[in-house]
Amino acid sequence: MPRLTMFRSLLFITTLSISLYSRAQDVCPVIPAPVTAKSTNSNFLLNDRTVIVLQHPSFRKEAALLQEQLLKYTGIRVQMAAAGMNTAYLSARATDKNKFPALIVLGKKSGEEDAYTLNMNEGGVTIDAGGEEGLVYGIMSFVQLARLSNPKDQHATIAGWRIEDRPVMKWRGFMLDESRHFFGKETVKMLLDQMALYKLNKFHWHLTDAPGWRIEIRQYPRLTLVGGIGSSTDSLAPAAYYTQDEISEIVAYAAARQITVIPEIDMPGHATAANKAYPEFSGGGTPKYPEFTFNPGKESTYQYLTNILREVNVLFPAGMIHIGGDEVSFGSASWNTDVHVQKLMKQENLKSLVDVEHYFIRRMADSLQAINSKVLGWDEVTAAKLPVAETIVFWWRQERPEQLKNALDKGYKVVLCPRFPFYLDFVQDSTHISGRRWGKEFNPLRRVYEFNMSNYPEIKDNNRSQIIGFQANQWTEVIKSAERLHFMTFPRLLAMAEAAWSDPEKKDFAGFEKRLTKFIPLLQQQGLYVMESTKTTPEPLR
Ligand code: ACM
Repeated sequence: MPRLTMFRSLLFITTLSISLYSRAQDVCPVIPAPVTAKSTNSNFLLNDRTVIVLQHPSFRKEAALLQEQLLKYTGIRVQMAAAGMNTAYLSARATDKNKFPALIVLGKKSGEEDAYTLNMNEGGVTIDAGGEEGLVYGIMSFVQLARLSNPKDQHATIAGWRIEDRPVMKWRGFMLDESRHFFGKETVKMLLDQMALYKLNKFHWHLTDAPGWRIEIRQYPRLTLVGGIGSSTDSLAPAAYYTQDEISEIVAYAAARQITVIPEIDMPGHATAANKAYPEFSGGGTPKYPEFTFNPGKESTYQYLTNILREVNVLFPAGMIHIGGDEVSFGSASWNTDVHVQKLMKQENLKSLVDVEHYFIRRMADSLQAINSKVLGWDEVTAAKLPVAETIVFWWRQERPEQLKNALDKGYKVVLCPRFPFYLDFVQDSTHISGRRWGKEFNPLRRVYEFNMSNYPEIKDNNRSQIIGFQANQWTEVIKSAERLHFMTFPRLLAMAEAAWSDPEKKDFAGFEKRLTKFIPLLQQQGLYVMESTKTTPEPLR
């Protein structure tokens, strides 16, 4: 090769590798992508001499979370600075860095509760946040970076970043249906761990439906003892449900991770399991959906359900209860011949079964208002004349955009969870066998990631602020093993997390996929069965 050509080739290779290197350095691997992230061109050495220093005493809980997360995911045993030593420690370290080991400072800054700044260099790490929420998000970004640095033997050399971050959407939700199949508290905690790592903050827990009632209610023990029997695939499965102690344990576990748990007690439809336990409150159903409804014509039904909601509201400090309200028409035909409902219709001048449905929902909303709980419901509740300031509507029927428009026109706050792309019980690949699809439609990773409000003409500049967030829903009619639950939930939940948190203008699927590649082994290390690629990952069919 002539010398000049060789020189040019070398120059080309050098330039290429420098530019590849600097590009790799420019892309912060964190999911969801932060608002801004700049490399500090330095490494932070995390080891078991690292200590945590608090600049605000109220951050003690978050410091404990950071310690626990680092131990769990990196094996590194970070300690707290001695009590009362915080300021002293900082000044002592400033004068003698050798004697005082590297540190992580949790500090407070002004601004939004959920905003944080993470700054890392050789000297230490600072996470400053507007409040506890932001602090936990900063901690999770740091934990991700620590995990991605291949920690070993009490050491991690973590590439430094300066990150300024806050979410675009306030509601970043995940719904799990445990009526169809019951998974139990270890699985729920695993899901909460994952939600926290990717900064999801609302766990919507679908605890009651036709196949089973899954939450202990002290006043009505048969709800679980009888209503808890069965599942979508085995009508004789032994009673499975959460005791109130377990509910409290899970609510506390979620709260430590800045996740609010919202229970769903579905009514007046999807009530079959409850009606098995207390048939006196059944409003009947149809041949295809027997005993599907509560009876809206009996005054005693309102007292019964109000008692249940009052107990539920004590267990969940969220101050919001989801009362479903979906698909009542599947079973409400029986109301046409029910004497109690017919009497109610005359008395209240209700002209149709839908009017009855709305009357019922309004009565239950009154019960919730009386206990200071917000009313959450599927988009069927939009026409029920609920109090605008106290209601959140979940738009799920993507084939009915007019429901979204109606909800927005009436002034409701709305969570977007349309079947396409946010129902994770739809298959994610054309070759998959088990799971839903509509004709040729299903929900591949890319479709979840690329969800963008600007594609919905119903959402305009003047109502955009009513959209409080996005949510992925996991229905479990055909998901009965933890392995299938993992497979159907991940990695799509990470795509949803980024769609909800990050700037939609900056979304880039190819970049996301590349970052995701690094996270797949981390999910697997935690025992999750996830699709790596359609070519190499067999679909678990049971
Ligand atoms: C729903 O999928 N029935 C809300």
